[in-house]
Amino acid sequence: MSEINWDELKAAAIKAMQSSYSPYSHFPVGAAALVDDGRIVSGCNVENASYGVGLCAECGLVSNLAMTGGGKLVAFYCVDGAENILMPCGRCRQLLFEFSQEGMLLQTTSGIKTIEEVLPDAFGPRDLETGFNAQERN
Ligand code: THU
Repeated sequence: MSEINWDELKAAAIKAMQSSYSPYSHFPVGAAALVDDGRIVSGCNVENASYGVGLCAECGLVSNLAMTGGGKLVAFYCVDGAENILMPCGRCRQLLFEFSQEGMLLQTTSGIKTIEEVLPDAFGPRDLETGFNAQERN
C-alpha cells in the first residue's frame, strides 16, 4: 500500500462528523479509516434517548466496513466537533482491533501510533481459537 493520505482521511472524518446525531452530549464525532483495498470507510456517533445505548462513531465505521465489502483497516482518523484529533474510547479500540491490519496506524493526540500501542496485549480472534483448543483437549 502506498503512502497514507492523512488529509483525505481527515476530510472524510470531518464529513462524517457533520452527520453526527448527538443531541444529548452535544459532542459530535466522526471517524474514517483507509481499508487495505484502498477504499475509505467512515462513521459518526448516533446517540439515543436511552443514553447508554448510543453508538460511537467507530461502531458506524466498522458497520460501513462490513457493508461495503469487508477487509482490514490500515489507517484511522477520528475528530471531534472542533475538527481536532480525538482518541477512540477503550471499547472502540477493541472494535477497531478486530478489523485492523497488523500495525494499523492511528493519528493520536500524541502523534501517529499503531493499534498495538493504543491497545497493548489485546484480546482478539486468535485468543478465542486458543481457548477453544484448550477446552477440546480436556
Ligand atoms: N464518542 C465516539 O463516538 N467515539 C469515541 O471514541 C469517543 C466517544 C462519542 C460517544 C458520545 O456520543 C459522545 O462521543 C460523547 O461521549
